[in-house]
This record gives sequence, C-alpha cells and structure tokens, in this order.
Amino acid sequence: MKINRDILNLKPSATLLINEKVKELRKEGNQITHFGFGQSPFPIHYSIVEELKKNATNNHYLPVNGLFELRNQVSKFLSQNQGIQRDSALIFIGPGSKELLYQSILIFEGEFLIPKGSWVSYIPQIKSKGGTYSILETKLENDFKLSSQSLEAYLKQSNHKEHVLVLNSPNNPTGAVYTHKEYELLAEVCRKYQVIVLSDEIYSQLNFNDDFSPSISKYYPEATIVFGGLSKVFSAGGYRLGFMSLPKELNQLSIVYRSLFSETFSCVSSPVQFAAVKAYEYADKLKEYVSISSAILHGISSYVFSELLKNNIDCTNPEGAFYMMIGFDQFKTQIQSLGINTSKELAHFMLENYQVALLPGSDFGFETTEFFFRLAFVDFNGEKVMNAYRDMAIIDESFIKENCLSIYSGVQQLIKFTNELS
Ligand SMILES: Cc1ncc(COP(=O)(O)O)c(C=O)c1O
Repeated sequence: MKINRDILNLKPSATLLINEKVKELRKEGNQITHFGFGQSPFPIHYSIVEELKKNATNNHYLPVNGLFELRNQVSKFLSQNQGIQRDSALIFIGPGSKELLYQSILIFEGEFLIPKGSWVSYIPQIKSKGGTYSILETKLENDFKLSSQSLEAYLKQSNHKEHVLVLNSPNNPTGAVYTHKEYELLAEVCRKYQVIVLSDEIYSQLNFNDDFSPSISKYYPEATIVFGGLSKVFSAGGYRLGFMSLPKELNQLSIVYRSLFSETFSCVSSPVQFAAVKAYEYADKLKEYVSISSAILHGISSYVFSELLKNNIDCTNPEGAFYMMIGFDQFKTQIQSLGINTSKELAHFMLENYQVALLPGSDFGFETTEFFFRLAFVDFNGEKVMNAYRDMAIIDESFIKENCLSIYSGVQQLIKFTNELS
C-alpha cells in the first residue's frame, strides 16, 4: 500500500506518548502531576449549555462560512472585546481553530516562519502538506517572543519570495503576551517584506493583566488573519468551534476558503453554532466567568513561577493562557551524567522517578538537546477552585495546598529533582 510520504513521516508527538503514559500510570494507581495536560480545567458556563440544549433539534446544514447571526456576533465580539474591526462577511466559522489554521496552511504557498517556542501542531501541519518552514530564534530573556530584529535578520537573507509568519499570543507553550510596542515593530518589518501573518489569538481574553490581549492586526491589518474559538476562553474544546477573520484587503481569499471548506467539513455542527452565539454575546455573567478564570490562572501561575525561580529553575513569566516554559540547562552536566541527553529522555525520567509529566521542548521548536519543557498549570478541579476562589479571592500557598494539591506536589517534586542534582 502506498501512503503519502509527507503524512507517513509524521511521528506520534512526544506529547501524545507522555499523555498515554500518564493515563497508564494513573490507571495503575500512581499519583502523577500532569503538567502536560493543556485543556481548560473550568466547567463550561451553563448559559452556553442551555442554548445548546435548546437547539438540539436543529439538524440542518448551515451555510459553509457559518451561521449569519454567529458571524455577526463574532464581529461585534472582536470589536468590543478584542479591539479588532472585522466585517462579519469576512468571518468564517470552522470545526476548531486548529482546522482553520490547517486549511490556511494548505492555502498559502511560500515559507512558513515559526518562532522557537510555538504551539505543537503548526510544524506537523506544514510538514503534512510537504511545506517549507524555518524556526526563528527567540530567547528566554524575552520569554521566547520573536523580536523585530530577529525577524528582519531572517527575512533579509531569505531566498523565498513569500513568507507566512505564525504568531500566537497569549502563547502556548510560554504564556507570554506580546505588547503593543512589540507588535508595532514586528508589523513594520512584516509590511516591508510583505509577510502574511496568521495570528492565533485563541487565548486572547485569558490575559492576567487586562480584559484581552493586544493583536498585531491593529498595526498590520491588511495582511493579518486572526484566529480564535470557544475552546480556551469558554472552556469548550469538545464543542469544536473556531473562527477566523480575513482583512478586507484579502477579500479575494474568501472564495478560496469557501471552496475548500465546502469540499471538506461543509459546516460546523448546527446546535453548537447556535450555542456559540450565546458565548459571543458575552453577557456580563460570562465576562465575569472569564475574568475569574483568568484571575485563578494568574494566581496559580504566579505561585509556580516564584517557587521555581526561587529554586534556580529557568522559567518564562506567563501573562496569559495555561502554560510556561521551564528549563534545566543550568544543570546540564549533572543531567548528562545520568545518561540523559535529550528533553524527551528527561521527560520520561521525570515521569518515572518524580511522578511529574512535562512536555519536551523539542515538540515546540526547541533543539532536542535543550532541557526545556512546557509546564501546563491546569491540573486541578476547575469547579472546586472557582467556588473556593469566590469565597477567598486570594491565591497563596495554603490555597494551592488545599485546592490544587497536584500542582503543589508537582512543584515540590521539581524542586526535589534539582536539589538531588546539585
Ligand atoms: C495555540 C493554540 N492554537 C490553537 C489551538 C486549537 O484549538 P481548537 O480547539 O480551536 O482547535 C490550541 C489548542 O490547544 C492552541 O493551544
């Protein structure tokens, strides 16, 4: 049997393997801190569930671009709650932003530019179509955000005529959020070299300091496609609904997207689209739910960050989303003396010996020999923590011990690991 080589070459990611291993170990009764798990811990808001129930009998196909009311509502939401002005005619609804990103990757030729410290699926998606890409250098000192200087240095010497830059903020895996100034500078370079930007803003409102995160589309509207969805902000990953929005300058792509959508997924589940209208109406009670989610994530991330930093573990400083990158390169010699040479090997070692699951940086654009890992700080019962937070409104060590014991133990185990190395 002949199988497409580009697909055949895709390997099960280390992430998948770690997740399977955690499941197995937990089934055997082991207490594991799953710092690898990147799903929203919070329950979905009842108002969205009610709307889904109400529309369960809706069994018709909807327009390929998405339900008219929903596109309208997303357009209003973007304007009021993300600072982005996009016409509803240029909003597209798809089965998750992952699929919309993938279809965009299929549509664009040219070289894809992926900053080191990017979401795990971009590169495999590019590889699966036999596309070309480069990983752009980023630094821990700047929380692995791409600088305009690095982008320009790369573009200056590139032989490719066209480039597509994939940006994500708040970022998975670092938790970093690009500032307005950083976007302004990146936009200048993108304009100079006519780069298309895919701006993955799926975590926008899960921002620890503000109601939403800056978007590069403010400074580079003409060639930025914005992506978002229900999965993170509204804790509804399983609903499988995402959106993308084109700028009017790329209006000619509408027909291309519509054709590809109509030949692939046809439309997103009808009841889910009706439920999403409710989410994007973003009533005060939903806004409050999102801001409480962000406050909890902020409190927990600050605790983890300060504990790790105190113990000499490298760490990005999250300002949104569920993640941070942590590093052990300062213990390289001691780690190598254990016969461990890659982040993947160290991830397995940590799981076996310290009951902590971390994802190796090699899945996020890091070199295999760099001892960097993604730590997701969402291994807690979101409903319980939300109730406790409503009572106490403060997250300190005793709150974490009482309500997020797995996170507390995981942090202690990471500290124990480094103490045993030194
Ligand atoms: C950065 C990023 N983009 C996109 C996605 C995909 O989300 P969706 O559920 O909308 O497909 C994820 C999910 O983990 C993500 O972390």
